[in-house]
Amino acid sequence: MAYKIAIIVGSLREGSINRKVARSICRLRNDNLNCSMIEIGELPLYNQDLDSNPPPQWTRFREQIAAADGVLFVSPEYNRGIPGVLKNAIDVGSRPYGKSVFDKKPAAIVTASPGSIGGFGSNHQIRQAAVFLNMPVMQQPEAYLGHVSDDAFDDSGCLKEGPLKDLISVLAHAFHDWVEMILRSRQLLAEDSAHAAQQAKAREHV
Ligand SMILES: Cc1cc2nc3c(=O)[nH]c(=O)nc-3n(C[C@H](O)[C@H](O)[C@H](O)COP(=O)(O)O)c2cc1C
Repeated sequence: MAYKIAIIVGSLREGSINRKVARSICRLRNDNLNCSMIEIGELPLYNQDLDSNPPPQWTRFREQIAAADGVLFVSPEYNRGIPGVLKNAIDVGSRPYGKSVFDKKPAAIVTASPGSIGGFGSNHQIRQAAVFLNMPVMQQPEAYLGHVSDDAFDDSGCLKEGPLKDLISVLAHAFHDWVEMILRSRQLLAEDSAHAAQQAKAREHV
C-alpha cells in the first residue's frame, strides 16, 4: 500500500545535501511512499499570541502535515543541535495546545553532514521533540550520515550508486514497513474494539 509522507527538510540552502538525500528517498520508493516536500522557510516565527488568529502560512503547514500518513525529518546539525528553522516548524505544528498535527504520526529521522558524526546531536534532539509529540519514531536503521559531500550525488541531485544509497534504500523500505505497521495495528485495534462493543450491546438485549 502507498502512504502519504510529508518530508520536512531542516535546511533552506539551495544546494542542501539533506534536501538531496530527501529527494533520493522519494525516488527510491516512489512505488509506495508518496512523498511531498513541505516547505518551512516562509513560516513566521512561532508566537503563542497568534494562536487565536494564526498566519496563513501556519494554517497551510498544519494542513499539509495533518493530511500525511507519516513524517520524515531530514536535517543538518547546527551547532550540535536542531537548526532553528526546523525547530520553528515543529513548534508551529505542535500548537495550539491539544491540537498538534504531529500527534500519533509515525516518523523517521535522517541527518546528514560533511562532518564525521553525521548530525548525531541534531538527530537526537529531533527524536526528543518527536517523542514528546507522541510520534512513534522508527528506531532502526538509525541514519547519522557522515562525510556526505556533493560528490555523493549525480547531476539530477540524487544519490549515486554506493553504500550510502544502499543504506538509504534500506531505510526507505524500513520506513514504509514502519508506517504500515503503525497504521494497520491502529486500524485492527479500532476494529477489535468496535466488534467488542457490538458484542456487549448484543448481550444486553439477550
Ligand atoms: C550555523 C551552522 C552550524 C553548523 N554546525 C554543525 C554541527 O554542529 N555539526 C556538523 O556536523 N556540521 C555543522 N555545520 C555544517 C553543516 O553540516 C553543513 O553546512 C551542511 O552542508 C549543512 O547541511 P545542508 O547541506 O543540508 O544545508 C554547521 C553549519 C552551519 C551553517
